[in-house]
Amino acid sequence: MFHITYFNLLHALCFSACLAHSFEYYVSTIGSDGNTGTAAAPFRTLSRAQNEVRGKLPSQTSNIYVYVEDGVYELDSPLNLTARDSGQNGFKVIWQAKGTLVNVSGGNQITNWTMYNKTAGIYQATVPKNSISRHLYANQVHAQRARATLTRSWLSATTSGYLVVNSAANYLLSLPGIEHGEIRGINSFTDRYIPVDSVSDGVILMKQPAYQNNIIGYDTITVPAADEGFYIENVLALLDEPNEFYLNSSTNTVYYIPPVGLDPNDMYIVLPKNEQVLVFSGTLDEPVHDIMFVGFNFMHTTWNYPSGDVGYADQQTGAFIGLNESYTIFESSRPFWWQVPGSIQMSAAHDIVIQNGSMVAIMGGFGIGNDPNAHTSGVGLGANNITISGIYFTQTGHNCITVGGVQADAHHPSDSRMLNSNIMISENIFSNTQITYTSGVPIFVSYATNAQIIHNDISVVPYSGICYGFGWGSNDAGGSEEYLLRGLYNYQPIYTTPTTLTDGLISNNLIHDYGLRHTDLGGIYTLSKSPNTFITENYAYSDNGYGTNCKYPSRRHYIRVLKLIFN
Ligand SMILES: *[C@@H]1O[C@H](CO)[C@@H](O)[C@H](O)[C@H]1NC(C)=O
Ligand SMILES: *[C@@H]1O[C@H](CO)[C@@H](O)[C@H](O)[C@H]1NC(C)=O
Ligand SMILES: *[C@@H]1O[C@H](CO)[C@@H](O)[C@H](O)[C@H]1NC(C)=O
Ligand SMILES: *[C@@H]1O[C@H](CO)[C@@H](O)[C@H](O)[C@H]1NC(C)=O
Ligand SMILES: *[C@@H]1O[C@H](CO)[C@@H](O)[C@H](O)[C@H]1NC(C)=O
Ligand SMILES: *[C@@H]1O[C@H](CO)[C@@H](O)[C@H](O)[C@H]1NC(C)=O
Ligand SMILES: *[C@@H]1O[C@H](CO)[C@@H](O)[C@H](O)[C@H]1NC(C)=O
Ligand SMILES: *[C@@H]1O[C@H](CO)[C@@H](O)[C@H](O)[C@H]1NC(C)=O
Repeated sequence: MFHITYFNLLHALCFSACLAHSFEYYVSTIGSDGNTGTAAAPFRTLSRAQNEVRGKLPSQTSNIYVYVEDGVYELDSPLNLTARDSGQNGFKVIWQAKGTLVNVSGGNQITNWTMYNKTAGIYQATVPKNSISRHLYANQVHAQRARATLTRSWLSATTSGYLVVNSAANYLLSLPGIEHGEIRGINSFTDRYIPVDSVSDGVILMKQPAYQNNIIGYDTITVPAADEGFYIENVLALLDEPNEFYLNSSTNTVYYIPPVGLDPNDMYIVLPKNEQVLVFSGTLDEPVHDIMFVGFNFMHTTWNYPSGDVGYADQQTGAFIGLNESYTIFESSRPFWWQVPGSIQMSAAHDIVIQNGSMVAIMGGFGIGNDPNAHTSGVGLGANNITISGIYFTQTGHNCITVGGVQADAHHPSDSRMLNSNIMISENIFSNTQITYTSGVPIFVSYATNAQIIHNDISVVPYSGICYGFGWGSNDAGGSEEYLLRGLYNYQPIYTTPTTLTDGLISNNLIHDYGLRHTDLGGIYTLSKSPNTFITENYAYSDNGYGTNCKYPSRRHYIRVLKLIFN
């Protein structure tokens, strides 16, 4: 097919051009930023190399290489690449890992653990001042915030919070530190968090607007379409199980119970400091472009937004009610949902390739052309000619790859430069992902033209494997009768033109052991129209829960299906 040929060509062109290069720089953990950046005198930091490369770009006459040696690079802040870091005159800037252990970490290793409570097996350690994090990674897996399981019937929902109606939950009313806690509900297709405000007169008062926004709409925390788990978490007094942790940001102390038989001083434990590690973001006038990253392992980020008053009013696959305002009419929120930010972001960007390497023990994945609220630059969308291939994903917190936005400019761009197009996602492996937000998915494409998802291997995931399309038909030309009835069009137009979701290809993917935690899902789950799109030669099977009778592609697919191979 034309599209596959085009991408092979892109790579072939690079590799032949890549043979001749005169500029190269080296970075090593035993280097120094005072060095000149040669192999013999390497730089110490990626940002030092970035500055050096910037200086060379205006007169670029060949590809520029930045070779990075094995080692852990703990970032003080994300590496931000803009138009000024872009390959010029038809050449590229190629950041190349020299070995297989080039680790770019958004956190700080935590050492010097001492015993805090021997009976309970709790250790403590001092963390850098002002550390704020919802995550801790222990031997490259997510530690769990200290929590206890609750039963939904123990609590009765009021307009301001939860009334304790069963003595089994009485302890919550005098639980020390509950004001730092959060209620989490894993439901049919959502995974929601609401911070506790205080306890008063037998009622656990919840933060607003987090509570109100989590009890309106569908599959809510109080009326879930399925109950897949209900917890109180982030309370030190609940720290009682191996691999649980608690962070006190005012005393700069983290508490942790190691797995049985392990001493945390013998473990590799990291507290994230950053929400992003790598950001490619230009402006619509001056995009960032022509950059490759080859062979890097990206790890150790967090995302702190849900700790605020808005909590996490999940609407599935990384869309949530994010505005700091209380909605009483659910449909009025729909056109304004936010997106969870990626740890690696690309917006106003073209001709970017990330190939080989991994994302391990990290919160967000790749955010490619998402809405402006999910890009730290404040500029969203406009991602074109992007390739993500050969990446191994495990222990990610949310979606591994999110392509496109969910707001109006994503499906009907007000400026043609906002279009997301030519996105290639190929030959990646995803296994045991979506650890923090189980309603996320390995691959989610909302609105993009010519997105290709081919030869990926997806397994052991809580919800769907691949989600393609968004909006349940509501933004398609002519709108949807269902959403007319729901009242959505009181808050947004009925569009008369198609969305940007066209010309997709989802083929030769293997998806198995999905749907481990949720219901109402699919191996490949599609929503809304996508003209000239092919879903073909995929293989999906799961013996678990709803996965067995999964919707493949889904009850609302409008896609031309050439051939389905389905167990
Ligand atoms: C990258 O951008 C973020 C968000 O704008 C900022 O906080 C951070 O300091 C920047 N990092 C560098 C190295 O400039
Ligand atoms: C680098 O990351 C890999 C992949 O997660 C991990 O196995 C390895 O232990 C890390 N290396 C160091 C030195 O932290
Ligand atoms: C380790 O922690 C102990 C107790 O907090 C402290 O006395 C000691 O100085 C620390 N050692 C290092 C190397 O930081
Ligand atoms: C230590 O943990 C045990 C068991 O959870 C608990 O009973 C005890 O009160 C704790 N001690 C302190 C000093 O917190
Ligand atoms: C941190 O510890 C201090 C002192 O024990 C306590 O007053 C505060 O509530 C704690 N904060 C959190 C977030 O647990
Ligand atoms: C949300 O609004 C409240 C009330 O105006 C304010 O106190 C709070 O700081 C806001 N939170 C965020 C995350 O903007
Ligand atoms: C990525 O790895 C594959 C398989 O080892 C290799 O064929 C390919 O050349 C690598 N890509 C780059 C840009 O080095
Ligand atoms: C994407 O690549 C194609 C083929 O090289 C090119 O025609 C197109 O202009 C590129 N798009 C952007 C936005 O750079």
